[in-house]
Amino acid sequence: MPHPMHDDIQEVLYSEAQIQQRVRELGAQLTQDYAGRDLHLVTIMKGSLPFLSDLMRTIDLPLTLDLMGVSSYSGINSTGEVRLTMDLDESIEGRHVVIVEDIIDTGLTLSYVLRNLRQRAPASVKIITFLDKPAKRGASIEADYVGFTIPDAFVIGYGLDWNQRYRNLPYVGILKRDVYAGPL
Ligand code: IMP
Ligand code: MG
Repeated sequence: MPHPMHDDIQEVLYSEAQIQQRVRELGAQLTQDYAGRDLHLVTIMKGSLPFLSDLMRTIDLPLTLDLMGVSSYSGINSTGEVRLTMDLDESIEGRHVVIVEDIIDTGLTLSYVLRNLRQRAPASVKIITFLDKPAKRGASIEADYVGFTIPDAFVIGYGLDWNQRYRNLPYVGILKRDVYAGPL
């Protein structure tokens, strides 16, 4: 029998109100930093879509956006392999790109994306991530803008999934261990 998603959550890390407040601050920062330049948001699917949707509406500048599909994760563990599953529509040559990410864990996904995008000769590339999980960072990758820095836990909600589920939770939470590990 299906049970409500919320019962699978052990702890709420950031409430909907906390997230909206932080996203507004990030949007104000980008509005200030990119004034006078044409901002191009490159979003990594699918986890970053709620973040993109909220963030873009807090940026008070003309901007454009594009989507990129990258896959690197299965279940709760990284497979270590990054794959381009959907390429951008438009050229980024000469453009001021900001990569919009949901979370940086090992940094593998973003290293791949950065390497890939830099070959296309953009004017500049910066990174904004909703969550930063620095504990297991292998690649030397730093985001230029970070929503929240979190401890080394598996989190879901606000775009983040476990096996493609829980993306629609309006808050960020930690999944109960028995949901992904089975009953103890
Ligand atoms: P990285 O390549 O290890 O930095 O992982 C980046 C990607 O892994 C993110 O874009 C997410 O899709 C996924 N990921 C990493 N940590 C979590 C988590 O705690 N919950 C859900 N997805 C995660
Ligand atoms: Mg992602």
